Amino acid sequence: MQKTLVIIKPDSVKRRFIGKIITRFEDKGFEILGLKLLVISENVARENYSEHKGKEFFGKLIEFMTSGPVVVLVIEGTNAIEVTRTMMGETDCHKAAPGTIRGDFGLSNRYNLIHGSDSPESAEREISLFFSTEELLKT
Ligand code: RTP
Ligand code: MG
Repeated sequence: MQKTLVIIKPDSVKRRFIGKIITRFEDKGFEILGLKLLVISENVARENYSEHKGKEFFGKLIEFMTSGPVVVLVIEGTNAIEVTRTMMGETDCHKAAPGTIRGDFGLSNRYNLIHGSDSPESAEREISLFFSTEELLKT
């Protein structure tokens, strides 16, 4: 079993995709251990995406991620990190395969609907950015 952090990004919330996206993860068989609706602060967005600090798109990414409410969830299941990223599809929505979230609902490279942790180390770091242990059903 593995845990990962998923963020339903501001563009998805604006487009009323919260339910659709969560349904995909529930249908797949994942368990939801934590769930929050919030507007991410600039500091937390910078921390969540610290691996991209210094890249030319970093400023725009932070602006986007703090531009409106998001839904943050911790999900658990077999190989959760890889499976959720497969379900999300390629970063660039116009290249993402049909059947994936980005492939089915978007066309943009930046406004790409969803975030998922990309390694066990990032999952642990990102989960603790958004949830205390008391806020999760299991640790
Ligand atoms: P994420 O971290 O959000 O799950 O996405 P990812 O792993 O598929 O992609 P990553 O390379 O980590 O990029 C992080 C986010 O930055 C935005 N981005 N904008 N050239 C650009 O304008 C550009 N490239 C990336 C996207 O929102 C991407 O998800
Ligand atoms: Mg990433």
